[in-house]
Amino acid sequence: MILHFTLNGQATRVECDPDRRVVDLLRQDLGLTGVKEACGAGECGACAILLDGVPRLSCLLLAAQLAGHEVLTIEGLAGGEAPHPLQEAFARAGAVQCGFCTPGMVLASHALLARQPRPSRQEIAQAIAGNLCRCTGYHKIIDAVRLAAGLSEDDS
Ligand code: FES
Ligand code: FES
Repeated sequence: MILHFTLNGQATRVECDPDRRVVDLLRQDLGLTGVKEACGAGECGACAILLDGVPRLSCLLLAAQLAGHEVLTIEGLAGGEAPHPLQEAFARAGAVQCGFCTPGMVLASHALLARQPRPSRQEIAQAIAGNLCRCTGYHKIIDAVRLAAGLSEDDS
């Protein structure tokens, strides 16, 4: 099929099987290797993208499901040379170790901040509940999202 969708702000046209997994389309066909694959079964969140602003697992999506929609990957977040404020906050808070979970974590956090600019620690934990991290213990990731939101430990 000829697939038309918006990818990181750009109108995109690709020819692919309608049942090609989106993680393969993005990584292998379009070179967007910031999209990670770990479990391949919808359980880890490494492959997360935003589809119309909502976190979705690209290992469970088929190419045909992108038609007419907007896809954001980590490559499209910053929109330039400088890192996105969330990426800066993750680095400053020490929320990146091996980095494998980081693209999915940052995108899930981006979706959260778009709908809740002042999230509590609990709200952040809920927003990233589908994203597994084997390295950080999650506290520094939550600190990073709070930092990006301009919230201190004293804010509720
Ligand atoms: S690779 Fe998609 S959820 Fe783990
Ligand atoms: S930083 Fe290694 S899995 Fe999260």
